[in-house]
Amino acid sequence: MALFGKTHTMSHNFQSHGDEPLPGHAFPLLYNMVYCSRATPSIDDAAVDQIIASSRRNNPAQGITGMLVFGSGIFFQWLEGPRHSVMELMATLQTDARHASIVTLSTTEEVRERLFPDWDMELVTALDIRDVLVDALEHARDEKNTAALRLLLQELDFGQLGGLGRSDSNSR
Ligand SMILES: Cc1cc2nc3c(=O)[nH]c(=O)nc-3n(C[C@H](O)[C@H](O)[C@H](O)COP(=O)(O)O)c2cc1C
Repeated sequence: MALFGKTHTMSHNFQSHGDEPLPGHAFPLLYNMVYCSRATPSIDDAAVDQIIASSRRNNPAQGITGMLVFGSGIFFQWLEGPRHSVMELMATLQTDARHASIVTLSTTEEVRERLFPDWDMELVTALDIRDVLVDALEHARDEKNTAALRLLLQELDFGQLGGLGRSDSNSR
């Protein structure tokens, strides 16, 4: 799938996101937040495109990268960047009437590589989410990322994200 090539060029350009590797480390300190939420019923593809447009306008200046999945009326978002930027965005997201019932699936702050260094915010369809995570798992060099991805895949197959990424799900 064409979008995978874009995800994991191994020549990470940390400078484009202002990432400063910590002294003695190859990678910067990254805050990662993964959540899912329920889209308000009026949300359609055009509304999601507007969210993506806002994200692409704002996220680069904040050093935030990640992906947004929309399917079966559920959002799932992976955010990574400096802690203060991600926290600030989450505060904004809490007040956004386009979704509700935000459930945090995982938060971490670690010295590690970005998982989606080239994605200011990429929209991934529910049917592609499993492939995206498997692809990311294959390319992850960092064992913390590997562990996080395994957990997400488990969530997808057996847990809270069970409705996403199934061929029988009622996706976009
Ligand atoms: C599910 C969801 C994900 C969002 N993700 C982002 C994001 O990654 N970055 C962002 O700037 N805004 C995001 N937004 C929109 C923000 O809540 C807010 O509307 C926006 O940041 C306002 O900026 P603007 O005035 O430039 O559009 C998201 C909204 C929703 C409902």
